[in-house]
Amino acid sequence: MRLDKFVCKSTELTRSEATQVIHAGNVMVNGSVVINEAAQVHENNTIALDGQRLKTRNFRYIVMHKPLDTICSNVDEAYPSIFNYIDIEKASELHIAGRLDADTTGLVLITDDGRWSFNIISPISQCEKVYRVGLRDVIADDVSLKFENGVQLQGEKQPTLPAKLNVIGPKEVLLTITEGKFHQVKRMFAAVGNRVVSLHREKIGEISLDINVGQWRYLTVDEVNLF
Ligand code: URA
Repeated sequence: MRLDKFVCKSTELTRSEATQVIHAGNVMVNGSVVINEAAQVHENNTIALDGQRLKTRNFRYIVMHKPLDTICSNVDEAYPSIFNYIDIEKASELHIAGRLDADTTGLVLITDDGRWSFNIISPISQCEKVYRVGLRDVIADDVSLKFENGVQLQGEKQPTLPAKLNVIGPKEVLLTITEGKFHQVKRMFAAVGNRVVSLHREKIGEISLDINVGQWRYLTVDEVNLF
């Protein structure tokens, strides 16, 4: 992995703060100062900041296939929490990188690494989320262009960021967005006079669902490093 990423993962520093300490010559790899933040390092290397050896923390990274009528919360409310499906130690320390509504199904990423989830959620990262949407009314021809240009949602100051619409059938579409405003997909279709009747998240970044409803698995190292 890149040196700046390693420094971030093993300290409380942000990416730009990590770059600064690297450029300042405060980081050593196997005993030599490295000032290139993009240098490739391995966890077996001895990497030190200001003379202190850094160790990556053992964060947990999980993908889950959320069932209908469950909630993305750490506690049960009107519906059971998705954490009922994840029977591991200290599950209460985990949080969800982009919640889904109770009536939305599909891909949920779960972790205890706040920086990693920020990379997924923050619109700055441009991380694409793909939703399969069932609609009440036939999709109008102009919706694709409207979503590309951004639509104004009620109560929001800024229009939505450019979104891609892929029409699958008269009342079924795939929508790709890079932000996650409250009820965003439902509000986007409401803004163009339609209504979402079913919603399923298929993909986040390059991670697609490969497990059955209610199942979960740990992400591979390569998958974690995608974000
Ligand atoms: N947009 C919504 O409206 N609901 C979700 O659950 C996810 C995205």
